[in-house]
Amino acid sequence: MKRKLLIALGVLVGLLVVLVGGLVACAKVKGDPTFAVANTGLRASTDPALIAEGEYLFHGPMHCTACHDSSKEAAFARKAGEKVEPIGGMDWDMGPIGRPVSANLTSDKATGLGGKSDEHIARVLKYGVGEDGKLRIFMALAVASVTDHEIVALLSYVRTLPPKEHAVRPEELGLMGRLMLAFGAFKPKFMPAATYVAASDSADPKRGEYIANGPGLCFGCHSPYDFMDGMKLKGVKFSGCLEAEQGHEDPKVEVCPPNLTPHPTAGHITAWTEDQFLARFKSGAYSSKDSPMPWTNFSNMTDTDLRSIYRYLRALPPSARNSGPPIRPVGSFKMPKG
Ligand code: HEC
Ligand code: HEC
Repeated sequence: MKRKLLIALGVLVGLLVVLVGGLVACAKVKGDPTFAVANTGLRASTDPALIAEGEYLFHGPMHCTACHDSSKEAAFARKAGEKVEPIGGMDWDMGPIGRPVSANLTSDKATGLGGKSDEHIARVLKYGVGEDGKLRIFMALAVASVTDHEIVALLSYVRTLPPKEHAVRPEELGLMGRLMLAFGAFKPKFMPAATYVAASDSADPKRGEYIANGPGLCFGCHSPYDFMDGMKLKGVKFSGCLEAEQGHEDPKVEVCPPNLTPHPTAGHITAWTEDQFLARFKSGAYSSKDSPMPWTNFSNMTDTDLRSIYRYLRALPPSARNSGPPIRPVGSFKMPKG
């Protein structure tokens, strides 16, 4: 009996060795794959209204400087309403996956976007893929899909940024990162863009719906999406995170973007008035250094947009899914299924 077990175990280990060896070999062959994407044909415009819209999206809802600041410390030290130069350099130590580093987006020729074409920038924003065909992993997975209108606005705005020389360290792609690329876990942007709704003078839940499901990416963090399973929605949208993630700073803390639906007990903000919601965002204050929510960027949103988001969230169907305290000791709360 014991002998049979040992043989079975031996076979299993052998199979594992072959499998892992195969994966490594395959990842080596495929290396850093390139992706063929369609030409966007999008070019920067000098229309002041479009540039202003790009500036608003950049520092506000699309929170570009949450990552394109020089470091996490610098981003946390910002005050509400502050707009920083996107000189890049923030990095994320992701162990065996690698170490992405945010780029310098100013117009400096050597270290920024000055030497890059409009087409390159437009492709990065539309697909998460550059003109060289290489995937920009964070741009593909952690930045909202938007329509060509917003892409041109953003592109037009970054072209107005004065050059600032700041070389950032090269990115590193680990073995795990290579495998994930080779096997399609990392791929160009595939989520459809939310239908564009222009800003207006009065609060409008339609505009709120657009920001929350588009540029603000609120839906991405506050819904049970499965990052490891092609970003499939595993439950009700806005009913809170799928699984809590380890905090940015403290490994003993886990963070879960809460349920934002107006459920009487499970909704995290059901008791908040519209003015409280507005004041919370205008404060720009981080709840904790462990939170990835870009509070200082969101403090740059207009009162009308924030009221629009509140009214949209208020009208969502209530979900009874209790996502627990947003910041809590690791393992202290059991997540319900999506
Ligand atoms: C979640 C973090 C994050 C956010 C938010 C973000 N970026 Fe990035 N960006 C990165 C990182 C990291 C890189 C380096 C390549 C990669 O890993 O994607 C990058 C690369 C780029 C590049 C390519 C630079 C080059 O030289 O090829 C452009 C252009 C860019 N970002 C523009 C933007 C704009 C515009 C926004 C806002 C709409 C934005 N990014 C928001 C993290 C982010
Ligand atoms: C990158 C992920 C991420 C994005 C994007 C994001 N959130 Fe959050 N959000 C969190 C996390 C994590 C928390 C819990 C920790 C905290 O309060 O910062 C949170 C907390 C909140 C809270 C409760 C704050 C409190 O004081 O209790 C509200 C309200 C909220 N988010 C609304 C939004 C809205 C609206 C958007 C889009 C405009 C948004 N979030 C985008 C991650 C995110």
